[in-house]
Amino acid sequence: MGNQIKSVGIVGAGQMGGGIAHVCAMAGYDVHIHDVSADGLQSMLATISGNLARQVASGKTTESDREAALARIALAPQIEGLAAMDLVIEAATEDETVKRKIYQQICPILNPEAILATNTSSLSITRLASTTDRPERFIGIHFMNPVPVMKLVELVRGIATEDQTFQSARSFIETLDKTITVAEDFPAFIVNRILLPMINEAIYTLYEGVGSVEAIDTAMKLGANHPMGPLQLADFIGLDTCLSIMQVLHDGLSDSKYRPCPLLVKYVEAGWLGRKSGRGFYDYR
Ligand code: CAA
Repeated sequence: MGNQIKSVGIVGAGQMGGGIAHVCAMAGYDVHIHDVSADGLQSMLATISGNLARQVASGKTTESDREAALARIALAPQIEGLAAMDLVIEAATEDETVKRKIYQQICPILNPEAILATNTSSLSITRLASTTDRPERFIGIHFMNPVPVMKLVELVRGIATEDQTFQSARSFIETLDKTITVAEDFPAFIVNRILLPMINEAIYTLYEGVGSVEAIDTAMKLGANHPMGPLQLADFIGLDTCLSIMQVLHDGLSDSKYRPCPLLVKYVEAGWLGRKSGRGFYDYR
C-alpha cells in the first residue's frame, strides 16, 4: 500500500519530538508540533535550525533544502493545531499518566481516519491503545536519539492494531530513509531491553567502586568500540528516562536482574538528569 500520510503532528518538543520534526520536514511532510511550553517550542526550532545548518556545512543538504524544511514546520501552542494531521506522533515524557491525558485531549479533535502513534521507549502499546478511541489505528513508532543521525526505527503493533495501520506506518518510515525493525509488544521492545540493562550494569559498576566514571566509559568506548561510554549515553538519554525504562522492565518482566541501580534512583531524586539538567554522571554547566 502507498503512503497516505501527507502531514504529521507531533506532541512534545523535547529532543525526540524535535528530532522527529527535523526528519519529517526534511522528507517533505507538513509538520505541526505542539508543546505545553511556548519556550520549549521556540528552543526546539532553534535546535533544528542549528542541526540543519551543521548538515549544510558538512554537505549533507543544501541551504535551500534547509530553508524549505524549516518553512514546513508550524508551531502549535494549542493542541487543536494538530487537528487536521494524517498522523500524530506523541513524543511526550515517558509517563503513562501524561500520555493518557494527551490522548484524551487529542482523540476527539482528530479526523477519525487519522493514525495515532506513540514514540514510547518501553510502555505497552496495547495498554496505551486501550485508552484511546482508536486502538486499531494506534501503533508504536520508536525513533532513536539523535533522530536525524540514527538509522533505526522500531515498529510495534498493539494487539488491536490493524494491518492497514501497520502498512501505512511502515511506508511512512521508509520515506524518512530509516531502517525498520519490527518488535513485539513486550516491555522496552528490542533496543532498550538490551541497552538499558547494560547501562544499569555500568551504573552498578560505578556504585560498587569497580571503576571511575571515566574508567567505565573509556573501557566501553575503546574496549567494546561503543561510540559513547554507557554513562555518557545515560546522560544523553536522560537519567529519568533510563530509570523509567528499568522500572518498566522490572515490573513487566518480574525479574530481579532488572532492578534499577540505587545510584540511578538517587541521581534522579537529586534532579541530576544528565545533559538536559546540566548535571548527571558528568557536569555540563
Ligand atoms: N542532532 C542532529 N545531528 C547530530 C546530533 C543531534 N543531536 N548529534 C550529532 N549529530 C550529527 C553531527 O552533526 C554530525 O553530523 P555530520 O557527520 O554531518 O557532521 C554527526 O552527527 C556526528 O556527530 P559528531 O561528529 O559531533 O560526534 P560523534 O561522531 O561523536 O557522534 C553520536 C555523535 C552520533 C551521538 C554518537 O556519539 C553516537 O552514535 N552515540 C550513540 C547514540 C545512541 O546509542 N543512541 C541510541 C540511544 S537509545 C535510544 O535512543 C532509545 C531510547 O528510547 C532511550
